[in-house]
Amino acid sequence: MERKQFLKSLGAGAAFAVTFPCLGSCSKDDGVEGDIVEEPTGVDFTIDLTSPEAADLAENGGFILKNLVVVARNLEGNFVAASQVCSHQSYDEVRFVDQEGGFFYCDVHGSRFAQDGSNLNQVDSKTPKPLKIYQTALEGNILRVFE
Ligand code: FES
Repeated sequence: MERKQFLKSLGAGAAFAVTFPCLGSCSKDDGVEGDIVEEPTGVDFTIDLTSPEAADLAENGGFILKNLVVVARNLEGNFVAASQVCSHQSYDEVRFVDQEGGFFYCDVHGSRFAQDGSNLNQVDSKTPKPLKIYQTALEGNILRVFE
């Protein structure tokens, strides 16, 4: 049976439920971790790299989450920052992965983004947006993350 025929056989309500399972909001009952939130704007904050909150930035490949931003120390030891909110369907599940040179990853549908925010795979051709990347500047032990 073709997909179209299958959906037709289910009826409009059921077809909608199958086709758009997360329209509006997905609950944690769907097995999806995370929440659908707005991408952060006006980002400008600092992190004291000697503070406990920055402990995971001590090693290359480590990352922390702050103000819906993923702040990472990449495999070369440089600080990079990206939106924690995925550009695919706005789940706050983006994390840094310290493999294959280091990349940002959202486990909700498997989107992968390069450190410049470009898509490494495209899970939905209707949403080709790159991941929002923020600037970083290090002065002494203070890391600034900003737009
Ligand atoms: S919301 Fe991140 S991959 Fe779909």
